[in-house]
Amino acid sequence: MAQRVFFATSEVYPFSKSGGLGDVMGALPEAMQKNGQPAAVISPFYGRISTGNYRLRLTVPDLPVGYPWAPITASVYETTHNGVPLFFIDRAEYFDRRHYYNDPNKGDYFDNAERFIFFCRAAVALMEHFGVPPVAVHAHDWQAAMLPAYIYFLRRSSPFWASTGTVFTIHNLAFQGRFSSRLFESCGLPREAWNVAGVEFFGDFNLLKSGIAYADAVTTVSPSYAREILTEKYGCGLDGILRQRELYLYGILNGADYTIWNPEDDPYLPRHYSASDLSGKRECKDALISEFGLDPRLRDRPILGFIGRMRGQKGIDILNDIIPDLMSLDVGVVALGEGNPVHEAKILEHMDTYRGRVAAVVGYTEDLAHRMQAASDLFLMPSRYEPCGLTQMYALRYGTIPIATAAGGLRDTIIPWPGEEATGYIFTEPDPVDFLRAIGDAVDVWTRDPGGHHQMVLRAMRQSFTWDKSCREYIDIYRKIRLRL
Ligand code: ADP
Ligand code: GLC
Repeated sequence: MAQRVFFATSEVYPFSKSGGLGDVMGALPEAMQKNGQPAAVISPFYGRISTGNYRLRLTVPDLPVGYPWAPITASVYETTHNGVPLFFIDRAEYFDRRHYYNDPNKGDYFDNAERFIFFCRAAVALMEHFGVPPVAVHAHDWQAAMLPAYIYFLRRSSPFWASTGTVFTIHNLAFQGRFSSRLFESCGLPREAWNVAGVEFFGDFNLLKSGIAYADAVTTVSPSYAREILTEKYGCGLDGILRQRELYLYGILNGADYTIWNPEDDPYLPRHYSASDLSGKRECKDALISEFGLDPRLRDRPILGFIGRMRGQKGIDILNDIIPDLMSLDVGVVALGEGNPVHEAKILEHMDTYRGRVAAVVGYTEDLAHRMQAASDLFLMPSRYEPCGLTQMYALRYGTIPIATAAGGLRDTIIPWPGEEATGYIFTEPDPVDFLRAIGDAVDVWTRDPGGHHQMVLRAMRQSFTWDKSCREYIDIYRKIRLRL
């Protein structure tokens, strides 16, 4: 069997997804294979996993994992999606739950450390069970971050792991998996990992840090974010160790999966459209206006869309603050998301106050996200930080002009207005004043210079963020780290 790269991830679309990580893991492994690098994915078997259209096979019924006590085991299910083998780690007591990481009413699951340490240990056991050392193990976010550490220490005693490189990708530095030091005792790493250059973080056990400290290469999802996280402002307390590992840190921009996000054949849209015929976009807008019971006058005024987690990162509070001002610009606002109950309640309150002008759906609905991308004229992303951001890439492809902060991947994907090449509006500070000014500019162009807006739409739709380029960069990293081993 050709040597594979194994991706370890807590989400993989279409089986599981709570945000961009799911999208990335649903697309990157397939792109790897197309670029000549065989790939496979290891992910938890959640109770809520969408397996409807897939045949799952029990491949390993009793995989010994030995964590947190022996002789605990996992069952492993296998399926194939777009030619990529996927292995799901099943242990009902850990993963058969309604949600992935937390109960919306009660907060994070109390045993998240145990759940994901178990997942990482099961992944190691599974790859050993297959008997062929992978070319690389590519772990994503804190949930999979222990893998590079395990492999780092296993290399000392096990020839099996001697030539396998490890890559750790940070999709969001703010989510670290920070737990009590007590949990370190049974995690299976040697004592020497408990220090400031290892997994210890202000007296706590930090899972994300183990990925940063022990992976052969650390990557993050845009070149700008790779630079930002080296600073105190964006480093979330980890900028020190990231600076220590700067030589091994790479920023690789995510791609967008245009087989899923393409207005020319998106199965969720009432009408398809393309850059050469935008009439379908107008119909998508009309359909959303009827569906939400919005004022029909909005057919001739811009609709501003927001789709994302309703958390501080995404600046939903900044949007909430300026909604009354937006109403005087005579525009419509549609929002989809879930997250902090305070922000959710506020947007619903606006919907009540500005009936027919503001519509909000609190919840998670894949098909509505597609329909809103197509129906909106402008797309709002007042993020306080944004490692990459996929929704603005989708918006560009749907001819929905983004208005976004100059942060991380937003900077790397949107060509700012004004200018011949512009595909969106960028503002500097994630605050109401700057945001409102940028929206004012966009609405002004939309109203007074429809031809200019139209040209921007066409350019936006032609921008392309394919996975091939990113794949080649990852493959190059796998090669480089193998040479160093
Ligand atoms: P993040 O990963 O930080 O949440 P991204 O822009 O990378 O942000 O990816 C978000 C993904 O999650 C996109 O596919 C977006 O459409 C989707 N999404 C976010 N919130 C919702 C929601 N409430 N309903 C449906 N899809 C959502
Ligand atoms: C994270 C980031 C987002 C990024 C996504 C996929 O959730 O918040 O910016 O696009 O991961 O890498």
